[in-house]
Amino acid sequence: MESSNSAAFEGLLKRGELIESVSEMTPDYLRELKHTLIVSGDTELISAPAYYLAARKAPSVNAFMTGIAIIQDELAHAHIAYHILEELGESQEALIFKRDPKAFRYPYAFDVPLESWTELVVANAMYDQAGFCLLGDIHEQCSYGPWKRGLVKVMAEENFHLRNGRNWSKRISQAGGAAKEELQRAVDWMFPLTVEWFGLPDNLKQHSAQLDYRLKGLTNDQLRPQWLSTVVPFMASIGIQVPAHQENSHYVLDYPFPSTFDAEAKRWDFNDPCTWDDVLSRWRARGPRNAEMVALFQESFSKFLPQRGREISLQQRIWSALAQIDDPEMPINLVDLGVVYGVALEGRTVRVRLTFTAMGCPASDMIIGDIRERLLAEPGVDEVAIDVVWDPPWSSSRMTVEGREALRAWGLSV
Ligand SMILES: [Fe+2]
Ligand SMILES: [Fe+2]
Repeated sequence: MESSNSAAFEGLLKRGELIESVSEMTPDYLRELKHTLIVSGDTELISAPAYYLAARKAPSVNAFMTGIAIIQDELAHAHIAYHILEELGESQEALIFKRDPKAFRYPYAFDVPLESWTELVVANAMYDQAGFCLLGDIHEQCSYGPWKRGLVKVMAEENFHLRNGRNWSKRISQAGGAAKEELQRAVDWMFPLTVEWFGLPDNLKQHSAQLDYRLKGLTNDQLRPQWLSTVVPFMASIGIQVPAHQENSHYVLDYPFPSTFDAEAKRWDFNDPCTWDDVLSRWRARGPRNAEMVALFQESFSKFLPQRGREISLQQRIWSALAQIDDPEMPINLVDLGVVYGVALEGRTVRVRLTFTAMGCPASDMIIGDIRERLLAEPGVDEVAIDVVWDPPWSSSRMTVEGREALRAWGLSV
């Protein structure tokens, strides 16, 4: 039975026909399909909070509404992927609302905050262009019928995001002066980050089952040049420099690939080439805003759970409790301050990974005491273990937007 099913599956695949239901798939195909959908859904979903933080800085109400329209599209794109995953037996609710921030599978670029309208439109011009290349390939090649059809709408909308990015980039560049300089600075850090988006070079990559199963058609080394061939000439046409140039029919990077990136400073050090192992460990550690971005769409779920008559998860309650503890010296809670690096549950023990804004911080004992006291008051918690960590070191970029605003209102420049 198993082998006849797998022979029928191979036949469909070989003939270039579409797979339409789970009953036609092998377990390996189902696993690869789910993995590919999760990466796509997570990438679409995380772009919504990332774009939202920057859209709030829009220069006019109409620009803001364009930003919001793009965010709405991205949420709908995420929903298409998660809806298919639900049909394949996964829980949409668990995927979106109950995963740890670090478990989301999206490009590292989204963990580096977009902090201005200029950075948002550069993201539209470069990140959405990357999405356009990757999804365009899946749309053309994908062997799973429901996804292939769902991507028709996605591609049309991505084209709108890209146009927004290009129109605004051109306009900002033409304005010249400080506006153009800000645009150039955004491109300087975002360009290499988008080049990285396409992943490891083919010679370092394990054999891709996604290609065998026609979940995609092109390799990383084929998709990356496709992106370069659109972005490099466009940026040149509007007078913005990028670290790449054309040689005959292809584009060549002007810097060692990969290189070292300082996410806090949004700066590349092209004099410090690194290995792909270094890049992989940066990706695995996630960037400065991973938890904040995920919280932006998970929060409402935990807030309204009691009204829906369900039990709020202990993990969510712990985070809410930590957000009730203020720093002893400033009017900001520990979560907004960005000193809580993680919460893990081990039976009835809560383990908190915590850092301080500086070594030898005189308030540290007080903070640890406050955490212990508050968490022990939470039903289901018998013990609290606090691991103080110094790596990665705290910096002000770990603060949430709300935290920064609270400190600004208090008179601190952050
Ligand atoms: Fe999208
Ligand atoms: Fe998009």
